[in-house]
Amino acid sequence: MIKPNILSAVGNTPLVELTKLYPDLHFRLFGKIEALNPGGSMKDRAAISMLERAVAAGRIDDDTVIIESSSGNMGIGLAQACSYLGLRLICVVDAKTTTQNLNILRAYGSEISLVADPDPATGELLPARLNRVRALLSTIENSYWPNQYANESNPLAHHGTVQEILTDLDDNLDYLFCATSTCGTLRGCAEYLRDRGLGTKVIAVDAIGSVIFGGRKAARLIPGHGSGIVPQLYVPNLADRFVRVSDLDCVIGCRRLVKREAILAGGSAGGVVSALARVKGDIPAGATCVMIFPDRGERYLDTIYDDEWVAEHFGDVSHLWESVEEENRECVMAI
Ligand SMILES: Cc1ncc(COP(=O)(O)O)c(C=O)c1O
Repeated sequence: MIKPNILSAVGNTPLVELTKLYPDLHFRLFGKIEALNPGGSMKDRAAISMLERAVAAGRIDDDTVIIESSSGNMGIGLAQACSYLGLRLICVVDAKTTTQNLNILRAYGSEISLVADPDPATGELLPARLNRVRALLSTIENSYWPNQYANESNPLAHHGTVQEILTDLDDNLDYLFCATSTCGTLRGCAEYLRDRGLGTKVIAVDAIGSVIFGGRKAARLIPGHGSGIVPQLYVPNLADRFVRVSDLDCVIGCRRLVKREAILAGGSAGGVVSALARVKGDIPAGATCVMIFPDRGERYLDTIYDDEWVAEHFGDVSHLWESVEEENRECVMAI
């Protein structure tokens, strides 16, 4: 299939049936492999959507400087799109950004603005990054902040994600599992499904220590899903149910996924796999379930897929994915 350019290769990711992950299942289970977007994650979709709509609205021209706070998948998605479109991108990152992601951003030609110290008022890095974005916007003429936490083009991009799933399944979708951070994926998919009146149940999967659905903020090891602020895109009652997963749940889910299905996926996909283990007893026989797997496992080789890193943080836990008896282990906490 010939594509006119790399950006048009974003989307249309495969839906893969998972028959080995949990062998005793009484329903059909699929994974939507967003790692197969050219930039390696589902954020490619939102990055293009935000830029395209800003161009159409006359907000971006050839000389506009794009400024965004992201050390991960959105930064990489924007770096890919800006590189192709010939736009200058400044990515505001902090000291926690992995060397691999910094190298990917630089390889696409993105400039890096590093925030070394937390915001003095709150002690947090996120407000310090947002302050840096505002400072850059006020000093750089013709600059534009896509702001993935508030930009409606972010959820709109995921109408495409769920449309692809529905097309592949002839509209037979009973359960959809989505990891959450900006709520772009959750909102885009849930609103589209609700408007279509298909009755699909949407399960949001969030990190313990994230505040999106309430609760207390706590330190988290695995980047990607979860948020220390309630995103502006969040609206109540998007999900029929939500499940919170721990860092260890993400590790267990990822290791199971690669061991049993040969799918090397990122941390939030592991969280979704563990969330499914938690709720699978409540899913009726014959149902069709899809889990969205947001990104590539290669970005987690030094953490989730590194035995020493896992042992250092969680002790000797390999039996949790090696043994099928552990299959019904519940998430550390679920609501
Ligand atoms: C790996 C990963 N999983 C899940 C999410 C959550 O997606 P969303 O921001 O659409 O809620 C993100 C967002 O950055 C992510 O990078």
